[in-house]
Amino acid sequence: MNQLGKFYITTPIYYVNDKPHIGHAYTTILADIMARWHRLGGDSVFFLTGTDEHGEKVEAAAAKAGQTPQRFVDSIVGTYVEAWKKLGISYDGFVRTTSPEHVRTVQEFIRRIKANGDVYKGQYEGWYCVSDESFWTDLQLKDGKCPECGREVKKVREESYFFRLSAYQDKLLEFYKANPSFLSPASRSSEILNRVREGLKDVSISRTTVKWAVPFPDDANHWVYVWVDALINYISAIGWPEGEGYKTYWPADVHLVGKEINWFHSVIWPALLLSAKLPLPKKVFAHGWWTADGQKMSKSKGNFVDPFTILGKYSVDAFRYFLVREMPLGSDGDFSEKSLVARINGELVADLGNLVYRVLTLAERFGSQPSGNPELESKLNITAIKERMAELDTFGALNAIWDFIRETNRYVNEKKVWALQGGELSNALYNLLESCRIISILLSPFLPETSARINEQLGVAAGTIADCRFGVFNGRVKKGDYLFKKVEQKQG
Ligand code: MSP
Repeated sequence: MNQLGKFYITTPIYYVNDKPHIGHAYTTILADIMARWHRLGGDSVFFLTGTDEHGEKVEAAAAKAGQTPQRFVDSIVGTYVEAWKKLGISYDGFVRTTSPEHVRTVQEFIRRIKANGDVYKGQYEGWYCVSDESFWTDLQLKDGKCPECGREVKKVREESYFFRLSAYQDKLLEFYKANPSFLSPASRSSEILNRVREGLKDVSISRTTVKWAVPFPDDANHWVYVWVDALINYISAIGWPEGEGYKTYWPADVHLVGKEINWFHSVIWPALLLSAKLPLPKKVFAHGWWTADGQKMSKSKGNFVDPFTILGKYSVDAFRYFLVREMPLGSDGDFSEKSLVARINGELVADLGNLVYRVLTLAERFGSQPSGNPELESKLNITAIKERMAELDTFGALNAIWDFIRETNRYVNEKKVWALQGGELSNALYNLLESCRIISILLSPFLPETSARINEQLGVAAGTIADCRFGVFNGRVKKGDYLFKKVEQKQG
């Protein structure tokens, strides 16, 4: 794992114009899995999430709701906190961009880049997409609409402060070259590299017309552009410049983001940090997008998958499992209740639940065994799992864990363990109990509730990565209910 023994992972901070949906849940669950995995390995982890509360989009949503922006954002933040609680998100910090600490940090950061000669006043003229809170040029528009989300854009013509992004093209290219795993996964790096090679234009970092924002330092007519405000959360939340958290955890090990905000994280954020003379994060990991029943999710279609609705019908671990298993590294994924049910029945019930139930039934009947010949150990490729997790390939790691679950089930069948006797029986039980204990450890970042239930039934304490070897089991078995229940699928 990480040599320094610390791991700082962040999610994007979410716009609070609306309540959380499956896309937000996915990024946050992925970060949670990585945080839990590093804790298992003994790292000191800081897992940050939070909310992006300023800007035109949030201001408009508040106006529509007939509330002041602050009241409105306070109410939406609550639904995020509740969603993360229900989804078992083990965050260490929750940052809000309307907090006074954050506001002060943004102002201090801007003063520094200004003092370094990278900020100047000019006139901005171009297009603005309120939904993405992003500026676009004539050439970038697609059929006169936002090239990212396809929505209407509006013309903006106003005085603005600019950041000299153009000065950082060579430095960024050098940095990417020296740090080949910064742009992750590798399949997404070329789109960033190509755009940076084409040349970088200076970017607007202040607005005069959008006032639900951080006041620009030393100029009462300007407010900080929401994306600059937002990116700084990654250091404000840990107390930059002087705080202990900053000293311990910066630079971030991973900024986890969705693919549509990769540019802000892989280009603008590192350039801002270079300007402020601060160390750069080690990795930006951009995941794919979810569709729902094969369709893009959108407000107009009203087809956003609501995590609260799913959790009303299925367990949190089934949802977490599905999200990881259904989106391969670097690809997009499609959510449908039908595929969720298929995975619950075919994998959680038939593979995992069945294995644990069978092993515990046998162990209760015949007694557990503390030692034997570790025949199943060679079927477990723990190095492969560690390698996948180091790449943030939770999909690949979960597949590798599942291969071991299936091998263990096969062992029960091939050996016909229920019909064995004497030394053969006790050796098989030794192998099976050790395998279930290790499976529970490996699954704990993915399925924390299920892992706790397996431990309870095995009568063991929660283990660490160091315990993922044979010869550790010392439990008192107490079989419980099946871990997962089969879901009856309606025909049609
Ligand atoms: N506020 C900005 C981020 C600032 S970070 C300094 C923002 N917020 S967001 O609420 O719109 O979305 C945040 C995250 O949700 C992104 O990582 C985005 O990719 C993810 N998702 C939103 N919709 C999604 C899908 N349909 N599928 C997968 N993830 C998507 O952007």
